[in-house]
Amino acid sequence: MPLVAIALPVLRSGFLRTELVVQESKAPVVSAAASTAADVNAQAPQGNDGYVGREVCRECHAENYDLHGMHGHAHTFALASDEKVAAKFAGRDFDYGEPYGRYEYEQDEDGLSVRLSGGGEDSFPLQYALGSGHHAITLLSLAKDAEKGTVAYEHRGSWFRDRDRLGRTPGQPLSVPESESERFGMKHVDNVMQKCIYCHTTTGTVADQKIVGLTANVNCEKCHGPGAEHVRQARAMKEPPPFSVGSAKWDSESEIQLCGDCHRLPEAITLKELREYPDKLARFQPVGLLRSQCFIESEGALRCTTCHNPHRTISDVSESEHIANCIECHQPEKSSHVSCPVSTTEGCVKCHMPKYDFESLGTGFHDHWIRVHSED
Ligand code: HEC
Ligand code: HEC
Ligand code: HEC
Ligand code: HEC
Ligand code: HEC
Ligand code: HEC
Ligand code: HEC
Repeated sequence: MPLVAIALPVLRSGFLRTELVVQESKAPVVSAAASTAADVNAQAPQGNDGYVGREVCRECHAENYDLHGMHGHAHTFALASDEKVAAKFAGRDFDYGEPYGRYEYEQDEDGLSVRLSGGGEDSFPLQYALGSGHHAITLLSLAKDAEKGTVAYEHRGSWFRDRDRLGRTPGQPLSVPESESERFGMKHVDNVMQKCIYCHTTTGTVADQKIVGLTANVNCEKCHGPGAEHVRQARAMKEPPPFSVGSAKWDSESEIQLCGDCHRLPEAITLKELREYPDKLARFQPVGLLRSQCFIESEGALRCTTCHNPHRTISDVSESEHIANCIECHQPEKSSHVSCPVSTTEGCVKCHMPKYDFESLGTGFHDHWIRVHSED
């Protein structure tokens, strides 16, 4: 079911309160009687720009639906007042340090809000929560701005799963806040604000202090495109025409482009970093993979889904399954690929894709530039 945002006209310090209202999706209406291609094509798809919502996909793709439901993709955007989110903040506080101070969180009928201890009556409303909480949750609020119309404040405090703690939001400087609102969050404008929503939702753009056409989370149709036409065809015929990843055009490049749109492609990285490849680039898996011999020399045979079922959360995948992926190509019996003089059965990931911990993010990332490391 797509989530639709509507704005409630309650104003507090210049902020609009928003709510996610769950609505029944408008699935395309298809009469069961359609039996010929002409009948099928006579029925125009309905719905919201061709998007039907993930509930509709469940009808025929129950397995992928269930798997996706456990993936971080399916939980990466919520209202801050959502019970599961609010419970992690409400009634708690933490000291950010100078020049900000101690933040105190409260949940009431207006939703989740934060105030600075000793900061008077001012409370700052917290609207959206980004991140599934597999590692962290960061809060975001939209506000009116005289110059830009709408701006977003990324709140200074985040929740981290490790040790169930509140702490500083990664990447925020300790500079002196330039305005009252900036005491509560780092200001994002224009493209940076839009992209933040883009990467964590299926549809939605920021306008007039709200997210218009919001479908929360990275759902089926973010990757596969609007599904109305496919559903219409699939309901009317046993073997619907190729769709999305089934189309002849779908190849290794289009897939890396898809995942890299959010997990980052080299174009999002500075040339200096691409040249020096600091450890922190491990966070951006496509950037590493694209410079691996495994990718370069396998002529399109290697892509993200060679090693990842895109619907299945990585926390469900065992080490032996990962190793099986490597051995699929690298085994002594196969003359088409080189094999490892050190081990042909175990430990491949530890030695060739080491994990770098990013303490400020509360997690770590595996270097996808698959190679022989000098310390191996
Ligand atoms: C629209 C943006 C977007 C696209 C496209 C996207 N991802 Fe993600 N991905 C995310 C976000 C956001 C998260 C963090 C989810 C969370 O909050 O836990 C994530 C997390 C993940 C994770 C770790 C979380 C888990 O539960 O396993 C894996 C693995 C992953 N993505 C793989 C992929 C692959 C493979 C593709 C391409 C087939 C892809 N992603 C495409 C945005 C995207
Ligand atoms: C270019 C796409 C992109 C943009 C823009 C983006 N994110 Fe993400 N975000 C991701 C991906 C991909 C992940 C998965 C892991 C990673 O790379 O950190 C993620 C992970 C996260 C997580 C951690 C989730 C978890 O539990 O693992 C949080 C919190 C988060 N993003 C918040 C934000 C906020 C707030 C903004 C905007 C100010 C933002 N992101 C902008 C793509 C994006
Ligand atoms: C992060 C991007 C992403 C999301 C989200 C996603 N898919 Fe996929 N899906 C892919 C990719 C990439 C492939 C191609 C995989 C391959 O070639 O092995 C695929 C393959 C498929 C296939 C054909 C192969 C198979 O596994 O049966 C179906 C059906 C499918 N997806 C349905 C869904 C449904 C239903 C949802 C939501 C519940 C969903 N997908 C969510 C990226 C995604
Ligand atoms: C009425 C049944 C039905 C519904 C609803 C449905 N599909 Fe499918 N889908 C099929 C059939 C049948 C196929 C072709 C056989 C197969 O690959 O399972 C298919 C194939 C696919 C493929 C693989 C394409 C290919 O040619 O390999 C993807 C991806 C996919 N569906 C995604 C979705 C998504 C996303 C949704 C929800 C928006 C959805 N489907 C809803 C029946 C359905
Ligand atoms: C689709 C096939 C494929 C898969 C899967 C694959 N590789 Fe490779 N890999 C290659 C190719 C091709 C080369 C280039 C040498 C050759 O032709 O065998 C290579 C080269 C390497 C090298 C040497 C790199 C260098 O810079 O000299 C290492 C190390 C390596 N692979 C490790 C791995 C590990 C570890 C995995 C699993 C995480 C893996 N590979 C998965 C195809 C693959
Ligand atoms: C040769 C196999 C292989 C390929 C290809 C591959 N990955 Fe991975 N990926 C892994 C392994 C192994 C891990 C670590 C799993 C673990 O132990 O948690 C991983 C982990 C991840 C994670 C979780 C965060 C992290 O870095 O540990 C994300 C997200 C991810 N991969 C995205 C991608 C994307 C996007 C692509 C395509 C550009 C891709 N991967 C291609 C093997 C691969
Ligand atoms: C203890 C660390 C370690 C483990 C575990 C390990 N490797 Fe290696 N691997 C190395 C080192 C070191 C080299 C370079 C050896 C040399 O050049 O003499 C290497 C080389 C390679 C090469 C390149 C061989 C060539 O001829 O260019 C491939 C491919 C490879 N490993 C794949 C794998 C795979 C697949 C696994 C898991 C089954 C694995 N490795 C496990 C350390 C390791």
